[in-house]
Amino acid sequence: MSWPTQHETNTARDDGLAPHGGIQQLSATAARDRLVVVGAGAIGAAVAWAAAREGVAGEVVLLDPEPGGGASHVAGGMLGPVTEAWAGEPEVLEMGSASVARWPAFADAVAADAGRPVGLRTEGILQVAVDSTDVASLDRMCKHFQDRGFHGLEPLTGDEVRRREPALGTSVRAGLAIPGDLAVDNRALLAALTAAGEAQGVVFCRARGARVVDDGERVTGVEVEGRVLAAGRVVVAAGAWSSGLHPVLADRVRPVKGEILRIRARPSSPLPPVHTIRTAVEGRPVYLVPRPRGRLVVGATQHDAGFDPDVLVGGVRNLLTDVEQVLPGVADYALEETAASFRPCTETNMPLLGPVGPEGLFAATGHGRNGLLLVPLTVEALTAVLRGQDLPGVAAPAAAARATAYV
Ligand code: GLY
Repeated sequence: MSWPTQHETNTARDDGLAPHGGIQQLSATAARDRLVVVGAGAIGAAVAWAAAREGVAGEVVLLDPEPGGGASHVAGGMLGPVTEAWAGEPEVLEMGSASVARWPAFADAVAADAGRPVGLRTEGILQVAVDSTDVASLDRMCKHFQDRGFHGLEPLTGDEVRRREPALGTSVRAGLAIPGDLAVDNRALLAALTAAGEAQGVVFCRARGARVVDDGERVTGVEVEGRVLAAGRVVVAAGAWSSGLHPVLADRVRPVKGEILRIRARPSSPLPPVHTIRTAVEGRPVYLVPRPRGRLVVGATQHDAGFDPDVLVGGVRNLLTDVEQVLPGVADYALEETAASFRPCTETNMPLLGPVGPEGLFAATGHGRNGLLLVPLTVEALTAVLRGQDLPGVAAPAAAARATAYV
């Protein structure tokens, strides 16, 4: 294995996503002040960028064999704390709402450092209903959130939905406009986070962190290709793979597979929606998230079945059948991509944030369906704990150290 210079490892590929190079040859004195972030999805890349920007470590190393890959690469990019809320999870809703409110300022800060946009969309989300049960549940959803002080929700008839989005079919019987829920172009975000990290001096290492190493009391580094990359602090942001990195995280994060499609309107196709559209067909959630130049991400299936990487024919069929319920012209679209990845889910649907286990180990993982949504709040939380402060109050229920038996 070669040990390239920092200049070499910070050279970006043409797509702006993946600087090349292995791990660095770094001086022993720097090691104590080195922070290694394991995992360069949106969470890890954002935490590394912010840590470097805020100067919370002498050196920030971002470790990933495939930066910008994994679930962040496949994600639809819905930032929908209200749209995706599940009854009985008030803390998830509270964290999601706090994070979506932080998204515009976060996007501006990343874009300013990156010199490129992050692809934030502010048109809002339209939740639509296609049968009478769904119409009734939209009514309940609207009342539930209005009673809790969420403003701006707007119930719509089917015709009102179609006036806003003419491509939606007559099967749509009602809708709810949720203007505070947003969306982001995941791949634009990943490219921007890479550029912003480079601008702040993050050292990108294209290698796999096999496990966090500690001496029984505190973190000493990360095992990489049979050697130990010495570090005083380590953030585990390895998504669905996080559980394997340290015994204190064992069994706390599991993969939940999701499949998506990427489709493109052709000149003959009905114009694609401008808003993010979400619905449920026979209980299966399905959503359409707009991308530039007539493209849409259609997502997503959900299978709690381990690390099965295949996109299944049945998954594609279900997504197409379900999306055709609301977008009848979809058959004329070009099918550009199918993909699968793994949401990092926890038992409680809360992420794991902050210090955990030996001194110097931090978690930024377990974000489940809400990874992109929770990026700004995660950044704020990890920056605080890396400075030696407490987790911000709204993130406190996600403290990773809760329910661990590490001594
Ligand atoms: N947040 C959407 C999904 O996980 O499919």
